[in-house]
Amino acid sequence: MNILLLGSGGREHTLAWKMSQSPLCKNLYIAPGNAGTKAVGENVDLQATDFDGIANFCLAKLIDLLVVGPEEPLVKGIREFLEAIPSLSTLKIIGPGKEGATLEGSKDFSKAFMQRHGVPTASSQTFDASQIDEALAYLQNHSLPIVLKADGLAAGKGVVISETHEDAIATIKSMLLDKQFGEASAKVVVEQFLKGIELSVFVLTDGKDYVILPEAKDYKRIGEGDTGLNTGGMGSISPVPFADAAFMRKVDEKVIKPTIAGLQKDNIPYKGFIFIGLMNMNGEPWVIEYNVRMGDPETQSVIARIDNDLVDLLLACAEGRLANYQMNVSEKTAATVVLVSEGYPGSYPKGRKISGLDEAHKALIFHAGTMASDTDVLTSGGRVLGITGLGNDINEALEIAYDSIIRINYQGMNYRKDIGKDLLKA
Ligand code: AMP
Ligand code: GLY
Repeated sequence: MNILLLGSGGREHTLAWKMSQSPLCKNLYIAPGNAGTKAVGENVDLQATDFDGIANFCLAKLIDLLVVGPEEPLVKGIREFLEAIPSLSTLKIIGPGKEGATLEGSKDFSKAFMQRHGVPTASSQTFDASQIDEALAYLQNHSLPIVLKADGLAAGKGVVISETHEDAIATIKSMLLDKQFGEASAKVVVEQFLKGIELSVFVLTDGKDYVILPEAKDYKRIGEGDTGLNTGGMGSISPVPFADAAFMRKVDEKVIKPTIAGLQKDNIPYKGFIFIGLMNMNGEPWVIEYNVRMGDPETQSVIARIDNDLVDLLLACAEGRLANYQMNVSEKTAATVVLVSEGYPGSYPKGRKISGLDEAHKALIFHAGTMASDTDVLTSGGRVLGITGLGNDINEALEIAYDSIIRINYQGMNYRKDIGKDLLKA
């Protein structure tokens, strides 16, 4: 079949790499893709939010399956847009419709969803600018630290954790009154701080049945020992030792089942991924957030451990056949280390030549912010490459990843040397 994948990051290179191995895959297109996706499919010069362009491309290339990588097209309603085109009526789409995508697109919506359906989550209250006086009074009496979240999509920058009441008050004023994140901070969710260890859980659902994909731990901060600014993600490990069978059973019973049942009760059709960000607090799962896509760089570690044919799995999702679908997950550990540009997560240079990729063949190399020139691979983003080692345990997986990394070079290359170290200690 003909497949179109939307997106351009490490997640998309990983999905493209895996789908390209399927005997079901005839032509694979990636829009817009990167230098890595170009090696496993054909890049298409279309942005993931160019709905007209995507519709025309699907018609011209007889696309059978559309896989949406990032959240933005989903939140903007790409499913409804394409479903309204009669000549695309047989197109299968992986990714929820607009209402389902609101689980990620609005923190207020997702908190209300969790509360309505009994999914464990931090207690919270939502305020808009007209309620500023109420909000300030509420903050004054709130226990510290205080978590403040812009309601809408804010490119990963919309969550602020305030250690003092003064900081929380200044933050909510700049979000609500100064519109720090534009429309995204027209509403702010004020939430209880959850103390524990984070885990990323991935579910693929057809709206009634689901499969649980391997879980992962993500390393969000730029600096070693989880210090410094937040990034899109500096590394990931799967499986996660503390997410043992007993904990994952709790996640299934207390989080996943009520989430899928909630979608059905609310009449929200959903065919796609649900990425549940949760906190393990004293052995109990608490949901921090839903995302309506796979995580990046979790996908690199998660997909590396899935032995199933990914196209077959996605087709089963699109066709509502996930009941009793057998997942085959490798026992191996995957460790992904992200190589970033100098200056990231602040501003960074682009166009730097990457060398050594051919010598790093023991690891899987997933491109993110890269582009191909006629002769070279160049940096083109903050997160440049994800290097994934697969081994019999965390140590071996890390060894493979880091051994490959020392062969790769570009000016200003930066990465964390402590990915997975916390899990070794535990
Ligand atoms: P988000 O943008 O929703 O992914 O949140 C960013 C990060 O903020 C999360 O990955 C957590 O590390 C942290 N965070 C969000 N909500 C809470 C909370 N209620 N308690 C503690 N940390 C949180
Ligand atoms: N790694 C976190 C995310 O993809 O949102």
